[in-house]
Amino acid sequence: MTRRKVSMALAVALSAAWAGPVSAQARPEVLVKQRQAAMALQGKYFYPIRSMAQGKTPYDASTVMRNVVYLDALARMPWDGFTPATRDIKSQATPAVFTDTAKFREAQDRFTAEVTRLTELMRKGDEASIRPQIMAVDKSCNSCHDTFRERQ
Ligand code: HEC
Repeated sequence: MTRRKVSMALAVALSAAWAGPVSAQARPEVLVKQRQAAMALQGKYFYPIRSMAQGKTPYDASTVMRNVVYLDALARMPWDGFTPATRDIKSQATPAVFTDTAKFREAQDRFTAEVTRLTELMRKGDEASIRPQIMAVDKSCNSCHDTFRERQ
């Protein structure tokens, strides 16, 4: 394949992955496990940079850069796992996930928009604007959890 053909094939593969469900066949139990894994990894890469933004740990630009890149990918992953077929499987998702789907979708969109903004600021490397944007992302995590995740 020529270079151009390879990059075209890649673009097609990526847009297909972007548009459609990753696997129409996945069992509901598997979907729940996968969405929880994506959430857990969001926590793994987000909480350390939140701690930096809050001044609880020293700010480290290279860690922020890596974690934000990971978060940008992870932020897109959990949502296709909240299918109606998963409704009766024990998880921390509240019933509202399946009844108030428009609001759940809105919370996803707000969150991914905040993460996209964080990615843009991170590319510019301006710590003074990155810190408050990390806290804006945190707010969007929490405001979704308030309604859609069972309290522990
Ligand atoms: C649009 C809603 C929404 C947003 C935004 C969101 N979450 Fe969640 N989160 C959920 C729901 C719903 C669950 C419960 C999922 C389940 O049990 O299947 C959850 C579960 C979790 C869990 C527990 C995962 C496990 O081990 O089972 C962690 C950790 C978590 N979220 C972290 C985060 C972090 C960090 C962010 C932001 C960077 C975030 N979430 C953003 C809805 C959201």
